[in-house]
Amino acid sequence: MNILLFGPPGAGKGTQSSTLVEQLQMHHISTGDLFRNAIKNQTALGKEAQGYMDKGELVPDSTVIGMVEETLKEISGSGFILDGFPRTVVQAEALEEMLEERGINLDKAIFLHVPEELLVSRLSGRRVCKGCGAVYHIESHPSKTEGVCDACGSEVVQREDDKGEVIQRRLQAYEESTSPLKEYYTRLGKFVEVDGVGAAEEVFNRLKTTIH
Ligand code: AP5
Repeated sequence: MNILLFGPPGAGKGTQSSTLVEQLQMHHISTGDLFRNAIKNQTALGKEAQGYMDKGELVPDSTVIGMVEETLKEISGSGFILDGFPRTVVQAEALEEMLEERGINLDKAIFLHVPEELLVSRLSGRRVCKGCGAVYHIESHPSKTEGVCDACGSEVVQREDDKGEVIQRRLQAYEESTSPLKEYYTRLGKFVEVDGVGAAEEVFNRLKTTIH
């Protein structure tokens, strides 16, 4: 099964992908995580992406598409979950081409629906581990000791793009560039909408039903 998860910032794509990967042994391709790793390692890609991410803007299509193309080459065997890619119709068209060249079929494009007022509180309350990337939330899923990761003991911090006005810019970029993907995947007969409201476990059970 090859799927993509899309939806606004804070919809729960990363949270749900981690559980799906763990339970269904799928590959997880998150363009946000790939960029954050590149920034951490101070690569040329990271330096390019950082300027856009800090402002809440999308990284240019050509950069993202090139990065995903490289990542797909490393994937074999079990299925994959694309998280945060594609984010524009241009990226979606490039993905179709890449998959077709490799004889791979995308089974479903799953949209996680969460209303905007909930997105803002999810994003502003999110905390992430600097070491292993584990994701927490100050109210719905706090770490046992404040500021310390349960899994690896590293520092837990707020993402730069989860602060103040940047959240609004990311939501705007989503509306302008990513929401047209609903129509795109409806036309391809791959669009499925899943309610992303409720406890993470409830959302996961809805997703599992959709995937099977
Ligand atoms: P990326 O990292 O992909 O950010 P995003 O799409 O904005 O998504 P988020 O990571 O913010 O949210 P999420 O849906 O994964 O939510 P999460 O599970 O963490 O991208 C960052 C940047 O990189 C972009 O702005 C752009 O600049 C660049 N970029 C990446 N891909 C790109 C592309 N394809 N093209 C161009 N640029 C690209 O959950 C959020 C919080 O809510 C957490 O605290 C979590 O604990 C909590 N939570 C989750 N589910 C629930 C629940 N059910 N109930 C209560 N709390 C919940």
